[in-house]
Amino acid sequence: MTVAGDYETVARERLQPAVYDYFAGGAGDRFTVNDNLQAWQRIRLRPRVLRDVGVVDTRTAMLGAPVAAPIGIAPTAAHQLVHADGECATAEGAAEAGMLYVVSTMATCTMEDIARTAPGAPRWFQLYVRGDLGHARELVRRAEESGYSALVVTVDVPTLDERDNGGPALEQRVELAHLPDGADVSDRHVALTFDDLATIVSWTRLPVLVKGLLRADDAATCVRTGVAGIVVSNHGGYQLDGTVDPPTALAEIASAVGDVAEIYVDGGIRRGIDIVKALALGAHGVLIGRPIIWGLAVAGANGVRAVLEELRADLELAMKLCGVPTLSDLSADLVVEP
Ligand SMILES: Cc1cc2nc3c(=O)[nH]c(=O)nc-3n(C[C@H](O)[C@H](O)[C@H](O)COP(=O)(O)O)c2cc1C
Repeated sequence: MTVAGDYETVARERLQPAVYDYFAGGAGDRFTVNDNLQAWQRIRLRPRVLRDVGVVDTRTAMLGAPVAAPIGIAPTAAHQLVHADGECATAEGAAEAGMLYVVSTMATCTMEDIARTAPGAPRWFQLYVRGDLGHARELVRRAEESGYSALVVTVDVPTLDERDNGGPALEQRVELAHLPDGADVSDRHVALTFDDLATIVSWTRLPVLVKGLLRADDAATCVRTGVAGIVVSNHGGYQLDGTVDPPTALAEIASAVGDVAEIYVDGGIRRGIDIVKALALGAHGVLIGRPIIWGLAVAGANGVRAVLEELRADLELAMKLCGVPTLSDLSADLVVEP
């Protein structure tokens, strides 16, 4: 059983089947949804022994924001589908755990309400460009004004793979707080270019991360465009089915640009050992998607906090067993890639 695996079991019993499927699902044959989980398991650890691991420290900073552990909440849509307090509860849980929350453009609470719920807590805003660039620019201005400390531009959705991921089957409707009235989770996206990315970077004084990269050449071009961070991601298997797995893409991207940008990774990360492997492969931190939804569905802010704290404790245990007292001791020699 993974950390938070029992939350998924309970959430599945309680949620409408279409809502459960919307969050648990993925594109195509769901090969990538499953492969993301297995990819972390395929990597083997080479633990160190006879090291002093009496005190293990998981604290760090994510692009300057101090956090209790290098674990953030990945941006996911429409939290009011699973809990009445939606993203405000997610933010409260993250703040109590002292960890980062990346708020989605597709949130059902406004970014200002989320900021007011957990002032001072570390949070980034994830940007989707839908409709025109003017709307996106207004969202960036609002994120700056309401205290978000970085902007995450998601670039792997030139169009939404809605054939098979549950979205259109949803009967339960929720308002998306940052989109025009009546907009839906499956509404059209804009296909961005590197020039558009440069334009977005020019709008803001916030550091910009790009989310959804799987190739070192794309990462290098993004860095030249002025981004401060990269989220290696295949969108949790929600977009293109059959992609390279996250740890393989992470290793490639981290060795190409890891010295000039902070590298993050998501997709299938469910255990402390997965996080150890990610950091050993060059990630600065990880993002977690679906387990947060299950925690939120079962127990609101408390469930989100519990999932994050369980993951942090599991990371601490994994570090002890690997003979690694600090995050900076996590290096590539700790893993054997398949
Ligand atoms: C239901 C669902 C909604 C998502 N919504 C967004 C979103 O609004 N913005 C975004 O950048 N990524 C979105 N993602 C992708 C997540 O940020 C993340 O990449 C993925 O869930 C990580 O994989 P995991 O769920 O296996 O941890 C979504 C993923 C799912 C499953």
